[in-house]
Amino acid sequence: MEKHTETAEIKDKTISILGIAGSLRKGSFNKALLRVAAELVPENARLEIFDLDGIPPFNQDLESQPPDKVREFKEKIKTADAILIVTPEYNYSIPGVLKNAIDSASRPYGDNAWNGKPVAVMGASIGMLGTARAQYHLRQSFVFLDMYPLNKPEVMVPFVEQKIDQNGRLTDDKTREKIRELLVALIAWTKRLKSS
Ligand SMILES: Cc1cc2nc3c(=O)[nH]c(=O)nc-3n(C[C@H](O)[C@H](O)[C@H](O)COP(=O)(O)O)c2cc1C
Repeated sequence: MEKHTETAEIKDKTISILGIAGSLRKGSFNKALLRVAAELVPENARLEIFDLDGIPPFNQDLESQPPDKVREFKEKIKTADAILIVTPEYNYSIPGVLKNAIDSASRPYGDNAWNGKPVAVMGASIGMLGTARAQYHLRQSFVFLDMYPLNKPEVMVPFVEQKIDQNGRLTDDKTREKIRELLVALIAWTKRLKSS
């Protein structure tokens, strides 16, 4: 295919984003933010949410025969154009549930589903740093996973319990705008990587 035709196709392509939240909690603020992202996704993209509930603790003895849930997860990652991770902060890092899911999909060696994927991160906490420490830990893993993280905007939502109501609705317009900006930037970043 000629280069200019290929570039035009990428420009018009609908970008598929796989979104995961690193919390299993029913009333999770981070899950709520991911739902908002799915609502706000621009017309030139779609966002599918994958629930990490049911991914068993990773056991390397079994990595060549992964359970169905992990197979499904890896398939979704591989077919997505880009990834959005919404992480809580647990003890200044990412929750074990998220790390376990990342590890599970990265194995066995030579079949790392994350390889080469553009990825954006956001997160919400009830603390004042809005998951900053967890997000930088997560970014460290992107190096070995060989992912392409979007640098900016950084979406770190502090004091989240004041911004999401009892029905799980985001009431803060500034946060909504930041999420929209993040999605637009992730789509542009994904198209840029695909056309290079
Ligand atoms: C095990 C654990 C550790 C936590 N550690 C932190 C922390 O290091 N920093 C922080 O800001 N909040 C911390 N929190 C509070 C979380 O920000 C809060 O529980 C948040 O609601 C979790 O996200 P979720 O609502 O999506 O489940 C911690 C919570 C738990 C359960």
